[in-house]
Amino acid sequence: MTTHIGKKTVLITGCTPGGIGHALCHEFNQQGLHVIATARDLSVLADLAELGMSTVQLDVTNSVSIENCHKTVQNLTGGHLDILVNNAGRTHVHPAIDLSIPEVRETFEVNVFGMMAMISAFSGFLIAANGLVINIASSAAVLPYTFGSAYCASKGAIVSYSRTLRQELEPLGVRVMVCMAGTVRSNIHNKEYRSLSPDSVYLPVDDIFQKRQRFVNKADPYDTKLFSRELVASALSYEVPWLVRSWFGRPDWFWSGGLARGAWWRTTIFGEWLNDWACSKIFDISRLSKKKAE
Ligand SMILES: NC(=O)c1ccc[n+]([C@@H]2O[C@H](COP(=O)([O-])OP(=O)(O)OC[C@H]3O[C@@H](n4cnc5c(N)ncnc54)[C@H](OP(=O)(O)O)[C@@H]3O)[C@@H](O)[C@H]2O)c1
Repeated sequence: MTTHIGKKTVLITGCTPGGIGHALCHEFNQQGLHVIATARDLSVLADLAELGMSTVQLDVTNSVSIENCHKTVQNLTGGHLDILVNNAGRTHVHPAIDLSIPEVRETFEVNVFGMMAMISAFSGFLIAANGLVINIASSAAVLPYTFGSAYCASKGAIVSYSRTLRQELEPLGVRVMVCMAGTVRSNIHNKEYRSLSPDSVYLPVDDIFQKRQRFVNKADPYDTKLFSRELVASALSYEVPWLVRSWFGRPDWFWSGGLARGAWWRTTIFGEWLNDWACSKIFDISRLSKKKAE
C-alpha cells in the first residue's frame, strides 16, 4: 500500500483525462503531494491510480457522493486537507434571451452550488491543516463573451462568493485563491453543442453561434500542462503579506490562459467598453443589426 504520511494532501474535483483537473493531478503529484483525484466516473482515473494517486468517485451535485468522498478522505488523511481544488465545471453557450432555465439551473448546480457544497463539507479538514482553497473561475467572470451569459454568470457568482469566503476563512488560517482562467485546451467545448431554437431571433447569424460554441478550441488555447504547472507553482509558492500578494509569493488571484492577460489589462486600464468592442469584433454580432434592417 502507498504511504502518504507526512505528505501534503490535495483533493481535486473533475479530473477526467484531457481536462485541467487531470493535468493538475500530474503536476501536484510531481511536486510530491498526495493527490486525491476525483471524477463522476471512477474508471477514467485508472492511469492516475497506477501512478500511486488516491482516486475517489465524486459528483459535486450529489450530497451522498460528497458525504462518501468526505468519509474516504477522513480515512486517507485522518481529517487534514492542505489544498482543495474546485475544478469541476461545465460550459453553457446560448443566447441570453433563449435560455432554458432548467438548463441554467444544471449549470449553476455544478459550477456554483457544487463548489459551495464542497467547501462546506471540507472546511473542517482545511481549517485543521491551515489549508488553501483554489476555486477555478474564469476570465468569463469579467469578460462578457457573446452567447455566454449563463456561464459568465456562474463564474461571476463564484468570484463574488470567493471574495467573501476569503475574508471569513482568513482568521481560521485558510487561504482562498481564485483562478481566472483564460482559454485552455481541454474537453470543455467538445461536449455540448447546442442548436438555436426554431424561432430564435439569432437564426440569421447561426454561423456566429456555431463559431462561438467552438471558440475556445480555436482561440489560441493555452497548453493544459503549462497552465497547470503555473497554477501549481503559484499555489505552492511562499506566503507573503496581503499588500504584495499580487506581485510575489502565493497570490489571491491567479490569471493565466489564452486571452486572460489581455482581458485583465483591458478591464483594469481602459474599462468595460473595450471588452464589448473586442467581443463584437471577434464574433461579428453587429451583423445581426444589418440583417434586421434588411
Ligand atoms: N478550458 C477552458 O478554456 C477554461 C477556461 C476558463 C475556466 N475553465 C474552467 O476550468 C474547469 C475545468 O474545465 P476543463 O476546461 O478542464 O473542462 P473539462 O475537460 O470538460 O473538465 C471538466 C471536468 O468537470 C467534471 N464535471 C462536470 N460535472 C461534474 C459534476 N457534477 N461532478 C463532478 N465533476 C463534474 C467533468 O466530468 P465528466 O468528464 O464526467 O463530464 C470533467 O472532469 C471548469 O470549471 C471550467 O469552467 C476552463
